Amino acid sequence: MQSISFANGDEMPMVGLGTWKSPPGEVYKAVKTALEAGYRHVDCAPIYKNEHEVGNALRDSFDAGTASREDVWVTSKLWNDNHHPDNVRPALEQTLDDLQLDALDLYLIHWPVALTHGVDFPESPDDFVSPEEVPLTDTWAAMEALKEDGLVRHIGVSNFSVPTLQLILDEGEVRPEMNQVEMHPYLPQPDLVSFAKSQNIPITAYSPLGSGDRPDAMKADDEPTLMANPTINEIADAHGVSPAHVLLQWGLNRGTAVIPKSTTPAHIEDNLAAADLDLSTDELQTIDTLDQNYRYLAGAAWTMEGSPYTQADLWGE
Ligand SMILES: NC(=O)c1ccc[n+]([C@@H]2O[C@H](COP(=O)([O-])OP(=O)(O)OC[C@H]3O[C@@H](n4cnc5c(N)ncnc54)[C@H](OP(=O)(O)O)[C@@H]3O)[C@@H](O)[C@H]2O)c1
Repeated sequence: MQSISFANGDEMPMVGLGTWKSPPGEVYKAVKTALEAGYRHVDCAPIYKNEHEVGNALRDSFDAGTASREDVWVTSKLWNDNHHPDNVRPALEQTLDDLQLDALDLYLIHWPVALTHGVDFPESPDDFVSPEEVPLTDTWAAMEALKEDGLVRHIGVSNFSVPTLQLILDEGEVRPEMNQVEMHPYLPQPDLVSFAKSQNIPITAYSPLGSGDRPDAMKADDEPTLMANPTINEIADAHGVSPAHVLLQWGLNRGTAVIPKSTTPAHIEDNLAAADLDLSTDELQTIDTLDQNYRYLAGAAWTMEGSPYTQADLWGE
């Protein structure tokens, strides 16, 4: 398995298992199946409301000898309502407790958006905390303290644009060691990729298959279905593989990690095998032409009328 190397010698496998929308009753089996299939990277978050079950699966897999803790890369994320520096450590401790781990491999600020403590999703502008009240740089300093204390091996961010990354680079002591963002052929974000590369910040591509199982309320009526794209399907047919294979290999080929979510055993196995697919330069270039700058997760909930955050702030566009 290809991996992303960190300055301290740690290696993050480039294909990981996503766990958003994996229901508590199914995620246990999905994580166990993935580890048995050879995955050594699991992407988690407390807002997915399933970290406890993920933790049970990790514990049972370690006990059964399927994998050892040292070999499995576990990422989790700080939710938006815990950005106040006083809340960062308790939030991480809850995640460690749920995952039944002593430390995480990677801890990310989930979004550059702060909510009132106790609010999962905003219902009114009153549910937001402005960047003036709790600056991202203060949250980052609290993340740095977790790393310093050995509770997390690496710290990074998620859904950060070039300007928000630059803010942390300018003001932080520790450089972000990851930016996890939506990325697939409809949203290849070449400028963000090249900025991150120039700063030696690795990227993890989330929703690499187009996040087709999002709740309907999160979907636009006219949104394009990535997995049904004719170009992707033609290339998949030519190789006798699934469209998922092609999408994941395109991401890997760009040097980004990919974290497809699945609770279907055949898909879990299929997605790992994408690392073995050889796509020609022509095929990769053809996929590059599919760019629509289309976000499946535009963060509309964070930019409602009256919110201190705007789409322009969020995406730096
Ligand atoms: N940092 C963030 O803000 C953020 C945001 C979104 C996502 N993420 C992370 O990224 C992960 C992946 O993104 P996502 O969950 O949005 O969507 P995704 O991985 O792009 O797509 C998941 C969908 O693809 C299906 N699928 C998976 N493998 C398949 C295959 N080989 N063939 C056909 N269908 C397949 C899944 O169904 P089955 O389950 O039936 O296989 C599910 O419906 C998340 O789970 C989460 O860990 C992070």
